[in-house]
Amino acid sequence: MSDVLCIYYSRTGNTQQQIQEVAAELGAEVVEIRDSVDRSGWKGFFRCGLDAMRRTTHPLQPFETQRKLGDYRLVIVASPVWAGRCSSVIRGFLKEHGGEIRHAAYLLSRGGEEKNEEIYDQMDLYTPCGHVAAVSLRAHSVGCAFWREEFLRQVREFLDQK
Ligand SMILES: Cc1cc2nc3c(=O)[nH]c(=O)nc-3n(C[C@H](O)[C@H](O)[C@H](O)COP(=O)(O)O)c2cc1C
Repeated sequence: MSDVLCIYYSRTGNTQQQIQEVAAELGAEVVEIRDSVDRSGWKGFFRCGLDAMRRTTHPLQPFETQRKLGDYRLVIVASPVWAGRCSSVIRGFLKEHGGEIRHAAYLLSRGGEEKNEEIYDQMDLYTPCGHVAAVSLRAHSVGCAFWREEFLRQVREFLDQK
Protein backbone atom coordinates (compact mmCIF):
# COMPACT_ATOMS: atom_id res chain seq x y z
CA MET A 1 0.00 0.00 0.00
CA SER A 2 1.57 3.29 -1.11
CA ASP A 3 1.87 6.24 1.23
CA VAL A 4 1.74 8.67 -1.69
CA LEU A 5 -1.67 9.47 -3.17
CA CYS A 6 -2.24 11.15 -6.54
CA ILE A 7 -5.75 12.55 -6.68
CA TYR A 8 -6.96 14.26 -9.83
CA TYR A 9 -9.76 15.60 -11.94
CA SER A 10 -9.51 15.50 -15.72
CA ARG A 11 -12.17 16.60 -18.20
CA THR A 12 -10.41 15.68 -21.46
CA GLY A 13 -7.60 13.36 -20.36
CA ASN A 14 -4.51 15.61 -20.23
CA THR A 15 -4.30 15.83 -16.45
CA GLN A 16 -5.01 12.12 -16.22
CA GLN A 17 -2.10 11.30 -18.50
CA GLN A 18 0.29 13.62 -16.66
CA ILE A 19 -0.60 12.38 -13.21
CA GLN A 20 -0.52 8.74 -14.25
CA GLU A 21 3.05 9.19 -15.51
CA VAL A 22 4.04 10.84 -12.23
CA ALA A 23 2.27 8.17 -10.16
CA ALA A 24 3.98 5.37 -12.11
CA GLU A 25 7.40 6.91 -11.34
CA LEU A 26 6.56 7.15 -7.64
CA GLY A 27 4.62 3.91 -7.26
CA ALA A 28 1.75 6.01 -5.95
CA GLU A 29 -1.95 5.24 -5.62
CA VAL A 30 -4.10 7.12 -8.17
CA VAL A 31 -7.68 8.22 -7.56
CA GLU A 32 -9.93 10.17 -9.91
CA ILE A 33 -12.58 12.50 -8.58
CA ARG A 34 -15.64 13.93 -10.31
CA ASP A 35 -18.49 16.13 -9.27
CA SER A 36 -22.20 15.93 -9.96
CA VAL A 37 -22.12 18.20 -13.03
CA ASP A 38 -22.29 17.17 -16.70
CA ARG A 39 -19.15 18.86 -18.07
CA SER A 40 -19.25 17.34 -21.56
CA GLY A 41 -19.47 19.22 -24.84
CA TRP A 42 -19.70 22.96 -25.38
CA LYS A 43 -22.27 23.47 -22.65
CA GLY A 44 -19.96 21.66 -20.26
CA PHE A 45 -17.02 23.79 -21.38
CA PHE A 46 -18.86 27.02 -20.58
CA ARG A 47 -20.12 25.59 -17.32
CA CYS A 48 -16.51 24.86 -16.33
CA GLY A 49 -15.44 28.39 -17.20
CA LEU A 50 -18.30 29.95 -15.26
CA ASP A 51 -17.77 27.70 -12.23
CA ALA A 52 -14.07 28.55 -12.21
CA MET A 53 -14.63 32.31 -12.51
CA ARG A 54 -17.35 32.33 -9.84
CA ARG A 55 -15.41 29.85 -7.65
CA THR A 56 -18.56 27.72 -7.53
CA THR A 57 -18.24 24.16 -6.29
CA HIS A 58 -20.68 21.24 -6.50
CA PRO A 59 -20.97 18.05 -4.43
CA LEU A 60 -18.34 15.46 -5.31
CA GLN A 61 -19.22 11.95 -6.38
CA PRO A 62 -18.14 9.39 -3.79
CA PHE A 63 -14.51 8.29 -4.10
CA GLU A 64 -12.39 5.79 -2.23
CA THR A 65 -8.77 5.90 -1.11
CA GLN A 66 -6.89 2.98 0.44
CA ARG A 67 -5.91 5.03 3.51
CA LYS A 68 -7.43 8.02 5.24
CA LEU A 69 -6.20 11.23 3.57
CA GLY A 70 -4.33 12.20 6.72
CA ASP A 71 -2.41 8.92 6.71
CA TYR A 72 -0.58 9.58 3.41
CA ARG A 73 2.89 11.09 3.62
CA LEU A 74 2.12 13.10 0.52
CA VAL A 75 -1.03 13.87 -1.46
CA ILE A 76 -0.40 15.12 -5.01
CA VAL A 77 -3.45 17.06 -6.20
CA ALA A 78 -3.76 17.45 -9.98
CA SER A 79 -6.09 19.80 -11.82
CA PRO A 80 -6.58 21.35 -15.23
CA VAL A 81 -6.32 25.15 -15.36
CA TRP A 82 -9.69 26.75 -15.94
CA ALA A 83 -9.87 30.48 -16.59
CA GLY A 84 -6.62 31.07 -14.73
CA ARG A 85 -7.82 29.09 -11.71
CA CYS A 86 -7.85 25.50 -10.54
CA SER A 87 -10.84 23.46 -11.73
CA SER A 88 -13.91 23.83 -9.57
CA VAL A 89 -13.90 20.05 -9.04
CA ILE A 90 -10.49 20.24 -7.38
CA ARG A 91 -11.55 23.40 -5.54
CA GLY A 92 -14.51 21.41 -4.18
CA PHE A 93 -12.20 18.57 -3.12
CA LEU A 94 -9.78 20.93 -1.38
CA LYS A 95 -12.61 22.85 0.32
CA GLU A 96 -13.94 19.63 1.77
CA HIS A 97 -10.73 17.70 2.42
CA GLY A 98 -7.77 20.10 2.20
CA GLY A 99 -7.59 20.32 5.98
CA GLU A 100 -7.04 16.56 6.26
CA ILE A 101 -3.89 16.53 4.11
CA ARG A 102 -0.52 16.39 5.95
CA HIS A 103 1.72 17.31 3.00
CA ALA A 104 0.52 18.40 -0.43
CA ALA A 105 2.03 18.83 -3.88
CA TYR A 106 0.26 20.27 -6.92
CA LEU A 107 0.28 19.37 -10.58
CA LEU A 108 -1.51 21.70 -13.00
CA SER A 109 -2.28 20.83 -16.60
CA ARG A 110 -2.75 23.84 -18.85
CA GLY A 111 -3.39 24.62 -22.50
CA GLY A 112 -1.70 28.01 -22.85
CA GLU A 113 1.81 29.50 -22.58
CA GLU A 114 1.15 31.16 -19.21
CA LYS A 115 2.11 28.89 -16.30
CA ASN A 116 -0.54 30.30 -13.94
CA GLU A 117 1.68 29.58 -10.93
CA GLU A 118 -0.42 31.88 -8.75
CA ILE A 119 -2.92 29.00 -8.66
CA TYR A 120 -0.63 27.20 -6.17
CA ASP A 121 -1.31 29.96 -3.65
CA GLN A 122 -5.05 29.80 -4.39
CA MET A 123 -4.98 26.07 -3.64
CA ASP A 124 -2.97 26.67 -0.46
CA LEU A 125 -5.95 28.65 0.88
CA TYR A 126 -7.68 25.29 1.38
CA THR A 127 -4.65 23.27 2.47
CA PRO A 128 -3.25 24.71 5.69
CA CYS A 129 -0.14 22.50 5.27
CA GLY A 130 0.85 24.40 2.08
CA HIS A 131 2.71 22.58 -0.69
CA VAL A 132 6.14 20.96 -0.83
CA ALA A 133 6.36 20.88 -4.64
CA ALA A 134 4.34 22.14 -7.60
CA VAL A 135 4.44 22.10 -11.37
CA SER A 136 2.44 23.49 -14.27
CA LEU A 137 2.63 21.28 -17.38
CA ARG A 138 1.51 21.94 -20.92
CA ALA A 139 1.04 18.66 -22.77
CA HIS A 140 3.28 18.18 -25.81
CA SER A 141 5.21 21.41 -25.15
CA VAL A 142 9.00 21.40 -25.50
CA GLY A 143 9.70 21.74 -21.77
CA CYS A 144 7.02 19.39 -20.49
CA ALA A 145 9.26 16.35 -19.82
CA PHE A 146 11.92 18.57 -18.23
CA TRP A 147 9.47 20.19 -15.79
CA ARG A 148 7.89 16.85 -14.93
CA GLU A 149 11.33 15.48 -14.06
CA GLU A 150 12.07 18.56 -11.98
CA PHE A 151 8.79 18.07 -10.11
CA LEU A 152 9.65 14.41 -9.49
CA ARG A 153 13.06 15.47 -8.19
CA GLN A 154 11.43 17.86 -5.69
CA VAL A 155 8.92 15.23 -4.59
CA ARG A 156 11.63 12.57 -4.12
CA GLU A 157 13.76 15.05 -2.19
CA PHE A 158 10.82 15.62 0.16
CA LEU A 159 10.11 11.91 0.52
CA ASP A 160 13.79 11.16 1.21
CA GLN A 161 13.81 13.64 4.11
CA LYS A 162 11.42 11.62 6.21
C1 LIG B 1 -13.31 26.08 -19.18
C2 LIG B 1 -11.85 25.97 -19.50
C3 LIG B 1 -11.01 27.04 -19.26
C4 LIG B 1 -9.65 26.93 -19.54
N1 LIG B 1 -8.83 27.98 -19.21
C5 LIG B 1 -7.50 27.87 -19.41
C6 LIG B 1 -6.63 28.90 -18.99
O1 LIG B 1 -7.01 29.92 -18.42
N2 LIG B 1 -5.30 28.75 -19.22
C7 LIG B 1 -4.79 27.64 -19.84
O2 LIG B 1 -3.57 27.54 -20.01
N3 LIG B 1 -5.62 26.63 -20.22
C8 LIG B 1 -6.95 26.71 -20.02
N4 LIG B 1 -7.77 25.69 -20.39
C9 LIG B 1 -7.20 24.51 -21.05
C10 LIG B 1 -6.98 23.36 -20.09
O3 LIG B 1 -6.37 23.79 -18.89
C11 LIG B 1 -6.05 22.32 -20.72
O4 LIG B 1 -6.54 21.90 -21.95
C12 LIG B 1 -5.86 21.13 -19.80
O5 LIG B 1 -4.76 20.37 -20.22
C13 LIG B 1 -7.11 20.26 -19.78
O6 LIG B 1 -6.92 19.18 -18.90
P1 LIG B 1 -7.84 17.89 -18.94
O7 LIG B 1 -7.68 17.29 -20.32
O8 LIG B 1 -7.30 17.03 -17.89
O9 LIG B 1 -9.25 18.32 -18.69
C14 LIG B 1 -9.13 25.75 -20.12
C15 LIG B 1 -9.99 24.67 -20.36
C16 LIG B 1 -11.34 24.77 -20.04
C17 LIG B 1 -12.25 23.58 -20.26
